[in-house]
Amino acid sequence: MVWAFCMALNVGLVGFGTVGKSVARLITERHDGLLHLTHVCSRDVARRRVDWLPSEVCWTDRFEDLLTAPIDAVVELIGGLEPAADWVSRALEAGKAVVTANKQLVATRGGALLALACQHRTELAFEAAVGGGIPIIRGLRDGIAGDRIRSIVGILNGTCNFILTRMEHGGVSYAAALREAQERGYAEADPSEDVDGDDARAKLSILARVGLGLELEPSQLRAQSIRPLDHVDFTYARRLESTIRQVSRVALRDNAGEQIEARVGPALVPLSSPLAAIVGSRNIVVTTGDYGSETLFAGHGAGGNPTAVAVVSDLVALARHGARWVDVCPHGAKRTSIVSDAPSPHYLRLVVNDRPGIIAGLAGVLSAHDINIDAVLQEPGNPKSALPFVVTLESCPESTMRRAVEEIAALDFNVQPPLCLPML
Ligand SMILES: NC(=O)c1ccc[n+]([C@@H]2O[C@H](COP(=O)([O-])OP(=O)(O)OC[C@H]3O[C@@H](n4cnc5c(N)ncnc54)[C@H](OP(=O)(O)O)[C@@H]3O)[C@@H](O)[C@H]2O)c1
Repeated sequence: MVWAFCMALNVGLVGFGTVGKSVARLITERHDGLLHLTHVCSRDVARRRVDWLPSEVCWTDRFEDLLTAPIDAVVELIGGLEPAADWVSRALEAGKAVVTANKQLVATRGGALLALACQHRTELAFEAAVGGGIPIIRGLRDGIAGDRIRSIVGILNGTCNFILTRMEHGGVSYAAALREAQERGYAEADPSEDVDGDDARAKLSILARVGLGLELEPSQLRAQSIRPLDHVDFTYARRLESTIRQVSRVALRDNAGEQIEARVGPALVPLSSPLAAIVGSRNIVVTTGDYGSETLFAGHGAGGNPTAVAVVSDLVALARHGARWVDVCPHGAKRTSIVSDAPSPHYLRLVVNDRPGIIAGLAGVLSAHDINIDAVLQEPGNPKSALPFVVTLESCPESTMRRAVEEIAALDFNVQPPLCLPML
């Protein structure tokens, strides 16, 4: 199709679940005539059909119907890689713009799909794939495009943030906080994708592409699970004037972007930092640029309505400004193979069967790796047979720390594997 400015868009929606329904509602409740929902495609249409959409909307279970209809923009909200990738490709090849909230699709196939969009002079828009309703993609691409961004740090997974802030403020165990997240619909029955970091890795790789021009496979990014955290870690974190968040971070080490630091996982953050102030299922992204310094983007990172706002905002931008295929061309993205880890101070929590010589044993391993102890903390009132205590360590690379922790884990006084977290 030929894109004109401020044209009314015919929109076809694929997937009518949590986000799909909210998108349909937001479009039909607008009265500016910019967006017309013409088709809804879902499986089991008879069961999905609702009476609150205009009767002109065409319901179908055949995606092909959207390709042949006079639709300008296809909204993909089925999730997963297939058939989403195939359907998005075919829509782009047909010259239709595509709006998606599918982070796994954009993170793993984004390069090829953006190239396809360029080739067919149309757009793949994906604001909703990261940070729900927070306009972070537009913020990076337009809002602070004049800066040279150095690092992107964020809380990108609302499920983890809900669990961690429940542990922090409710004093509950990881298992109890997870159960509560599941009861409230924030966590899946199988929470692995959230708590083990895959969801945040996909989002971080999208932010790295848009903000830093880096092509990173999510699997290249190191991820640490939040599962081993205990509420005692929040007690010790508070003594260190900190709390714990699942932090996603990517940063350039050099101007060429050939050396980067990237990681997803729990970390100690100072109570005074903007990350510590984010509670419940909210998200935040903090960018640091050479000229503009720190910029914060925060808001609701998930949920039908906030995510639908991002989807509909992409559609409104298409209607107002037409498809932009030039500035998202993937030849702007640099393939980066070196992912080196950041040096930082570390928090090391052990649970031991108390006896003389434990600190000496630890100190021996740490000094063999050239790691200096900063402080030893021990809360009173715990049984000697399972005594938790914490050692804070001066700055060293995460890989050095990992090797030391492997050796410490093999020492016979441990009654649980040690937990090591970076202190940001
Ligand atoms: N929910 C959020 O808060 C949120 C936030 C940010 C991004 N997202 C992203 O938004 C997308 C949609 O999420 P959601 O929460 O709305 O998911 P959802 O509630 O599971 O809805 C998915 C919809 O797509 C339909 N569908 C799935 N596979 C299909 C297929 N092969 N053919 C036709 N229809 C199919 C499903 O039908 P059935 O009901 O028959 O399975 C369902 O109606 C995902 O990519 C997700 O990652 C969601």
